Amino acid sequence: MTESPDTPETTVPAPQPEWRNFYGRRSGKTMRASQKTYISEDLGSLTPGGISKEENPGREIIDPGTIFGNDAPLWLEVGFGGGEHMVHMAARNPGVNILGCEPFINGVAMLLGKIRTAGVSNVAIWPGDVREVMEVLPDGCIAKAFLNYPDPWHKRRHHRRRFVTPGYLQALHRILSPGAEFRVATDIPNYMEQALIEAPKAGFTLLSHSGTPWDDWLSTRYEQKALREGRVPDYATFRKP
Ligand SMILES: C[S@@+](CC[C@H](N)C(=O)[O-])C[C@H]1O[C@@H](n2cnc3c(N)ncnc32)[C@H](O)[C@@H]1O
Repeated sequence: MTESPDTPETTVPAPQPEWRNFYGRRSGKTMRASQKTYISEDLGSLTPGGISKEENPGREIIDPGTIFGNDAPLWLEVGFGGGEHMVHMAARNPGVNILGCEPFINGVAMLLGKIRTAGVSNVAIWPGDVREVMEVLPDGCIAKAFLNYPDPWHKRRHHRRRFVTPGYLQALHRILSPGAEFRVATDIPNYMEQALIEAPKAGFTLLSHSGTPWDDWLSTRYEQKALREGRVPDYATFRKP
């Protein structure tokens, strides 16, 4: 999470079929003892069943109501990083449930620490690739989705690894409910250009595109890094018609 996955030397391809290679990092520096405790004590109960290929080899569609035991609206955060935005949204919106996906285990540990501090109970965590989650969720079950500072994959030949490509976007479009918002924040101009081209092709309507964040936005670690390094945040909101 602390390095941009732009150099092939740093990538860790997961042992998966070609179409679902994951090129990002799954772990980083050694975790603190407290973070290891969060993982061992908290992660299991916050991880929904039926998502992994081991548990659900037939890729049966799961009932999202069973994740939280209620039918509150379900939001999805893709690549939550250290989890600050996700916990902020959960605390601000106690009437919704938020499922966050993040394969970088050090980020998961950071989120778990924040969940303990904030005391929020309307969150669930998939410590893996969002594609595994999208594959087993039913049509139209997500009321809002967040993509904050996705991995940029700067090199042109790596742009096809970005989230804003047809495979990811069509999968997301399927699980969003009609009228659901899909928010994208990035500091990479050609990433936003790609989003503005590809999201409509996948069926999304552009609602807004601006350098001003949403009223309920919480600036993330990556946004802070971008600002320190002189890059400019850019925000777009799409909607599934
Ligand atoms: C640049 S970081 C941004 C983290 C955070 N959203 C922020 O704004 O600080 C992008 C994150 O997306 C995660 N990511 C990359 N590919 C992913 C995937 N297929 N599913 C879920 N998360 C993914 C990475 O592990 C990384 O933590």
